[in-house]
Amino acid sequence: MNYIGSKLKLCQEFIPKTIKSVCGEDLSNKVFCDLFAGTGIVGRTFKTLVKKVISNDIEYYSYVINKNYIENHTEIPQKNDYINELNNAKLIENGFIYKNYCVGGNGERQFFSDYNGKKIDTIRSKIEKWFKEKHITSNLYYYLLCSLLECADKVANTASVYGAYLKHLKASANKELVLVGAEYQLNDNNHEVYNEDANVLINRIEGDILYLDPPYNARQYGANYHLLNTIAEYKKFVPKGKTGLRDYNKSLYCSTNTVVEEFEELIKNAKFKYIFLSYNNEGLMPSNIIKKVMSKYGHYDLEKTKYQRFKADSNRINKFDSTTEYLHILERS
Ligand SMILES: C[S@@+](CC[C@H](N)C(=O)[O-])C[C@H]1O[C@@H](n2cnc3c(N)ncnc32)[C@H](O)[C@@H]1O
Repeated sequence: MNYIGSKLKLCQEFIPKTIKSVCGEDLSNKVFCDLFAGTGIVGRTFKTLVKKVISNDIEYYSYVINKNYIENHTEIPQKNDYINELNNAKLIENGFIYKNYCVGGNGERQFFSDYNGKKIDTIRSKIEKWFKEKHITSNLYYYLLCSLLECADKVANTASVYGAYLKHLKASANKELVLVGAEYQLNDNNHEVYNEDANVLINRIEGDILYLDPPYNARQYGANYHLLNTIAEYKKFVPKGKTGLRDYNKSLYCSTNTVVEEFEELIKNAKFKYIFLSYNNEGLMPSNIIKKVMSKYGHYDLEKTKYQRFKADSNRINKFDSTTEYLHILERS
């Protein structure tokens, strides 16, 4: 997924290398927590290296994605047969996504082609029916849901996020959605996934390495990815305004007025030996404030790297620009 603040590229080297240089090469007896997990790529990077991953995000779509990529760790029998059955199911006509987010259904909003809207409704309804009738396990439920979210996102008719749709169907949105399985890594250990406010959950968990990647600007994830929550939850509501928005979480990490207090509270309550915070040079919290807060609780250090970031602007021109990504490090005393 092309996700705001995704650490996909930084997971190739910078993040694992820095964490290992501080905590040691062998992490096999460590509990690693990815508290603002998003796409789950950081937890996935550490899943086979550590004893346990604890993964969390306040957004439900992210929870679904992580229930699959992190919590699923053993083979699910015949999962490809279910993917095939979903791909070949007869399309339903008047589902929630088609009615509210496709031109054929409401004459206006065009987040998906008519065909893809119907296909999302068909697949989503069938997954729910199977689960309710106990025909599929919870592991398979999240595997199928995660597969749907990722494949729906690939054919969304947006510039990058769901804050707006494009007037005309772009080439990738015109392609027919084909469900492809979201394959997770197999391993022997059990992992835990939560869907809570980080500042609440932090009081109930403990471990060795805490990785923090909160939002760094005012863009609320719940608003920018509202359609992923709608597909993931699939409960009826009255969509609001031009983009069919739903009620959404307002993270205290997205406001200058609240972010520092929220961050300090989190660090204070964290029962982890090592804490790593990803933040960039355009973030709401200046580096000197982060240093001041973290230094109160132990030994502070900083690593940084230049980062070529992908940006899709409203004219659909994809650009790369350069930012500095920081990894603030705290070893608790
Ligand atoms: C920068 S993104 C994380 C990106 C992730 N590391 C990745 O590579 O995909 C920040 C995440 O924090 C989540 N978030 C925002 N406020 C939160 C809160 N109070 N508690 C838990 N998660 C929160 C957002 O939903 C979003 O997924």
